[in-house]
Amino acid sequence: MILIFLGPPGAGKGTQAQLLEKKSGFRQISTGDLLRAHRSNKTELGLEAQGYMDRGELVPDDLIIRMMERELDGVNDAILDGFPRTVAQATALDELLQRKGRSLPGAILFDVDDRVLMERLAGRLTHVASGRTYHTKFNPPRVAGHDDVTNDLLVQRDDDKEETVRKRLATYHDQTAPLVKFYDRSDASGMLPGNRLTTVNAFGEINAIAAQIAAAAGVHPGVCS
Ligand code: AP5
Ligand code: MG
Repeated sequence: MILIFLGPPGAGKGTQAQLLEKKSGFRQISTGDLLRAHRSNKTELGLEAQGYMDRGELVPDDLIIRMMERELDGVNDAILDGFPRTVAQATALDELLQRKGRSLPGAILFDVDDRVLMERLAGRLTHVASGRTYHTKFNPPRVAGHDDVTNDLLVQRDDDKEETVRKRLATYHDQTAPLVKFYDRSDASGMLPGNRLTTVNAFGEINAIAAQIAAAAGVHPGVCS
């Protein structure tokens, strides 16, 4: 089963993907984490993606689609955290899964007011090697500034500067929000399933949101509490 996490920057996609992965066996595939790994390894893709990411823009579709085709090869149960983000990416994903005779993905929309996102991103701390995220106020690590698992130092992401977050939000509303319709449509031809979208209220306590997502994903609701 392929499950898409759809939502604006700071909505909690990564936080919830990691919780679901830990408890359910779904594998988190985060395009943001993959791109940041490419960037720090200075691969050709990483070098090409860097400017777009620094400006809060989307990396071009063809690069992302090629990267995800490789990542999805042989993977059964996955949470796609941050992919697709354009109608072109969503169409390519459906086509890829259809070619392989696999069922089409369902999407979970993280519904949250833009006004809370700035505070979430300003206080976010990230463990670079694993992609684990914390928040100074809402989800603090056990030892301030250090990862719970490795004790490594946590850092702030470069693109969490206020100005870049504003641009990322605008990019989301402009290019990614149209996917809500893409996954929520009723398809008159009957060739594609309609209503592939489940909306969760992503404002509130992290474990309460995890329970909504587990229920939507068909995982036992107690599993993520
Ligand atoms: P990416 O890394 O995917 O960034 P994003 O979508 O902007 O989302 P974030 O990772 O910022 O937010 P999140 O929803 O994961 O929130 P989190 O759980 O961390 O992408 C980065 C860049 O890569 C893009 O700008 C683009 O350039 C490029 N890119 C990536 N994918 C692409 C694609 N498909 N196509 C083209 N380009 C692509 O939570 C945020 C904070 O809030 C944390 O501190 C957390 O602890 C806290 N928090 C979480 N939940 C709660 C809660 N319920 N209450 C309070 N605090 C909470
Ligand atoms: Mg994330």
